[in-house]
Amino acid sequence: MAFVHILTKDLRPGMFIVQTGETWRSRPYLYAKPGLLKNEAEIAEIIKQGFVEAYYDPEKSEQSKEDVEDLLSTPLAQKLPEPTVSLQDEIKAQVENYNNCVDHIQHVMEEARSGRLDFLSAKPLMDNIISSLNRNADALTSLAKIKTHDEYTFAHCVNVSIFSVAFGRYLGLREENLHNLGLAGLFHDIGKMRVPFNILNAPRQLKPEEFAIMQKHAKFGEEMLSHIPNIPHNILAGVCDHHERFNGTGYPAKKKGSEISPFGCIISVCDVYDALSSKRVYKEALPPSKALSIMYGMRGESWKTGLVELFIKMLGIYPVGTPIGLTSGFKGVVTKSNPSAPLYPTVLLYKDCKGQKIVPPSSVDLAQQHEMQIIKALSTDTVDFDILTLITEGKDVPKKS
Ligand SMILES: [Fe+2]
Repeated sequence: MAFVHILTKDLRPGMFIVQTGETWRSRPYLYAKPGLLKNEAEIAEIIKQGFVEAYYDPEKSEQSKEDVEDLLSTPLAQKLPEPTVSLQDEIKAQVENYNNCVDHIQHVMEEARSGRLDFLSAKPLMDNIISSLNRNADALTSLAKIKTHDEYTFAHCVNVSIFSVAFGRYLGLREENLHNLGLAGLFHDIGKMRVPFNILNAPRQLKPEEFAIMQKHAKFGEEMLSHIPNIPHNILAGVCDHHERFNGTGYPAKKKGSEISPFGCIISVCDVYDALSSKRVYKEALPPSKALSIMYGMRGESWKTGLVELFIKMLGIYPVGTPIGLTSGFKGVVTKSNPSAPLYPTVLLYKDCKGQKIVPPSSVDLAQQHEMQIIKALSTDTVDFDILTLITEGKDVPKKS
């Protein structure tokens, strides 16, 4: 990433100033003392000394804790741009990337068991996630829930990364921070590679002493990543804090409220959402809408009031890709949420009231009619047809086993 020119009046805490090699004689008003800007007072002093311009390195910069906390506590003012690519096209383009991403993190995490952690190789994956979300934010977030993977641990890391970047983007984080947030999401459970296999993969509830070992994974993860040269602090904090809870009941440090890092808060929401809506050996997957309603009940306790509400606003009460049943007996899949009327998304109907296939499936905006309402949402695991093929090709075909 190239250095970015900025006027000193626009500097913000968290920016990492760099030296460009230019002399004082050629650029007398250029501030070039390398390092992270810690606070507003430091910036005021730079301006007072007469400097009017500077260069910063977006990769080494961090969004200040205060900056992100403001974003988390302020109702959204900005409206995200409309998608530039259709849901169908973006999903088609991302299926292979998603699978590659899971394979890659699996390889990196398995290697980490033997002490070698190739963190840098994951960086390009973030470019793809961010640009895909910029083209159509529903594509990767729905793909993360539609694709079922045998290897929960690794697919979960990719999903948490996708949801974290999508949520951070929705909250208004700058792109360079989305990179770090996505990496923190991708590596949030890297510490599990230090947890013994029999505990990590136990097909049952853990005994208290096993759970105590499992809980160490957050701190293990922070420790493992701390060996990466120049790793941004917000990545370490996000990994370490992803099981902390707003009311102080989390782990490893029982942090409370604003003691929990902003990345930790965001990743925690995404982690719980993906865990609840995923199938595990010891439990069925919940439909996304059910997972969101459980999380809504945890607001103010697990997370600061307002945070889960924003997450639900982002995904919709019925997230894109959710299979649903309607009052009329028709069946469909959500293909577009409706922020102003969340109970009435756009749905692709594939079966009629007699259970007959609708060929080709027809799209209905539930807000524009009065006959049908959603009566139930299903998890993607429980349906017998291939949701991806239905959305991308308009064909109702059986799910591949
Ligand atoms: Fe975790």
